[in-house]
Order: sequence, then C-alpha cells, then structure tokens
Amino acid sequence: MPSTPQHFGDYQHEIYAAGLRGEPPRFPIAFADLEARAEAALPPWVWSYVAGGAGDESTQRANATAFERWGLMPRMMAGAARRDLSTGLFGRTLPSPLLMAPIGVLGLCAQDGHGDLATARAAARTGVPMIASTLSADPLERVAAELGDTPGYFQLYTPTDRELAESLVRRAEAAGFQALVVTLDTWTLGWRPRDLATANFPQLRGHCLANYTSDPVFRARLSKPPEEDPAAAVALYASVFANPLTWDDLPWLRSLTDLPLLLKGLCHPEDVRRARDGGVDGIYCSNHGGRQANGGLPALDALPGVVAAADGLPVLFDSGVRSGTDLVKALALGATAVAVGRPYAYGLALGGTDGVEHVLRCLLAEADLLMAVDGYRSPAALGPEALVRR
Ligand code: FNR
Ligand code: LAC
Repeated sequence: MPSTPQHFGDYQHEIYAAGLRGEPPRFPIAFADLEARAEAALPPWVWSYVAGGAGDESTQRANATAFERWGLMPRMMAGAARRDLSTGLFGRTLPSPLLMAPIGVLGLCAQDGHGDLATARAAARTGVPMIASTLSADPLERVAAELGDTPGYFQLYTPTDRELAESLVRRAEAAGFQALVVTLDTWTLGWRPRDLATANFPQLRGHCLANYTSDPVFRARLSKPPEEDPAAAVALYASVFANPLTWDDLPWLRSLTDLPLLLKGLCHPEDVRRARDGGVDGIYCSNHGGRQANGGLPALDALPGVVAAADGLPVLFDSGVRSGTDLVKALALGATAVAVGRPYAYGLALGGTDGVEHVLRCLLAEADLLMAVDGYRSPAALGPEALVRR
C-alpha cells in the first residue's frame, strides 16, 4: 500500500485520455446506470435479493436521499490543490476512509460464483479494506489469501453455538483478518417482500455457507459430511444462525479476541455508550441498508448522535452511500470511515474484480475532486461546519 497520498481524482484524466484513444469507459459512471446494468446482468433471484430491502423499502430509499438534505459549503483559496485522504484506523494508515461493507451474497454476484475472492482482489489492488461476511461462497481463509497488503476485517454473524462462534473467530485471526465486526441487527430476518414474493432466500438453498461447511466445529455437529448430506448442513446452519444477543453477551464477545472489536448496526446513542462501556474498539453505525427494519429513519440521521456518544472511538458508517459526494458528507458528519455496500456488488456483477475496482475508484475520484473544488484538504478539514441543511 502506498504511503504517500494518492491522487484519486486522477482517475478522470485516465478516463478522458482513454476517450481520446476511442475507448469509452467499460463500466457505468453514474449509480443509476450501474444499477440498471447490474439488474440486466444478474439472474433475477440474485438481483431481487441484493437490490431489495425490508417492507416497502422506504427506509432504504430514505438512506440514500438523506444525503441530499445536506449541502457542502465551498471554500475558496484554501490550498486544496493537493489532498490527503489517508486515514488512520486500528493502527494502520489506509489510503482513504473508504471501506467495503460486508455483503453475504457476493459469491453469487460474480459471474463465476467466486465474488468474495474477486472482491478481495479488488481490495488488494486499491487498498480499500474489505469487510468479509460470514456468509461467503469461499471459506474465509481463501478470501484472506487474496487481500494482498490491504487489511481485511471479518464480519461475524454470531452463531448460537458458542463453540462454533469461537472457531470462526480463531480462523479469522489465523487467516490474518485485522478486526472483528459483529453484526447485531440481523438476529432474525426482516420482512422482505421481494424475496417473499418469489419464496427465495439464497442461504436456505445452500448458497454462501462455505464458512460453516468448512468449519471443524460445524462439521463435527453433523452425522454425515456436508458434501454427502447438504440438506442436513443447511438445516444446521438455519438452526444456529440467529442469535438474539443481549448486552449480557458483550463480555463474552469481547473475550473472543484481542483484535479490534466493532459492533455493527448501532444507531441509538445509548447503545453506543453501552458498547463503549463494554470495551469495544469501534462503532459501526448502519441500518443494514434498510434490509432489516423498515420505517423511515435514515442511518445518516443517526450518525451525529452516534459520533457524539462514541466520544472519540472510531465510527464507521454505511447505508445509502452512492457517490463520492455521499462519502464526503458522511465524513463531515463525523464518520471516521465510510463503507460502500450495494454499488460495489453491482460493479462485481458487471466486471468481477475490474468492476469493483472501477466503482471504488469512481467513488474516491469524486470525493477527492469535490474536496478539491470546495477547498477541503483532508478528512480532518471536514467538520460539521462544512455542511449546511438544504
Ligand atoms: C448486506 N449487508 C450485510 N451486513 C452484514 O453485516 N453481513 C452480511 O452478510 C450482509 N449481507 C448483505 C447482503 C446484501 C445483498 C446487502 C445489499 C447487504 C449489509 C451491508 O453490510 C450494509 O450495511 C448495507 O449494504 C448498506 O446499505 P447500502 O449502502 O448497500 O444500501
Ligand atoms: C442480508 C443478510 C443476510 O441479506 O445480511 O442482508
């Protein structure tokens, strides 16, 4: 990973220079085009699973439109000709504050069925960390092996079987993941009309369970190996997946690892304070992209309260980030780092590693050029005073 600041905005020179050679961009630039092309590229059942959300999806839409309610105040003659987007997180300096959110069906989004590996390769190329989901088509060890020098974080869906949970964490540590992200908002599945309408839930069809079927503890619970009796493996997965954790479980979660521990899905300041008191290393503010609970509150509206309650702990944010502009606004509202979700899965659907890389580079170029034009040299220069309510 380069230690000197990267000039992300230069991607636009590359694109225009290729145009002079008669080569238009291979992949869409605008999110709406990316989404439309991904819909055409993916099998309908994968598309509806990835694109869909809870209820009438009003929270999901509100996540994205919430950014429009903020405007960035331009500053002139601010010396922003050179920007430095580098960001310190858990002892590492990242080239930018951008991360890839955990997405459980990445495997299915890639045309070759190995989207987790393709995403890890995009992380290696760009330096954008991947948060690898528990639900992957390839085991976490193989995903980690593709990350190169870029840090990866492991996202844990905490099984009800504590030994299995511990096994997954041990494996993630051994594979070299550098933080543990425990997702709290999916202990039961939200009401998802698109998936219900086609009675489609990929994991129950045996997809993306490689971390379970490759796990020694999981395998020991089965009377026949998953290769011989896949239905029994799916049934076991379904019986251990959903863990309604309470705050009483936090000391145990904390005891699982010395890696930095983050809790994902926090929006209420009181929950943030409890997490902080319980010894976590970071807070991950998110409403799961509106996939879990419908009802209207955009995650962005929860961010300032989360940042205040985090009281200096790093705050990661996702839900609704569709552009570099959104990235900049989330930073100005106090996020330490910002994760992109669906857009990179769409890039994956269109062009595997190249497609993910393109989406990440577009986000970073737009953020970098916005900061240039508006006179903000670094994430530290972006405070709440940089934003005005529209
Ligand atoms: C997710 N998300 C998710 N989160 C998590 O902690 N573990 C997971 O396995 C998954 N799986 C998953 C699958 C799909 C298809 C999507 C779209 C999302 C939630 C994800 O990390 C993130 O919170 C949202 O994607 C953010 O919303 P947007 O920006 O994608 O709308
Ligand atoms: C999702 C869960 C499984 O589909 O993370 O959002």
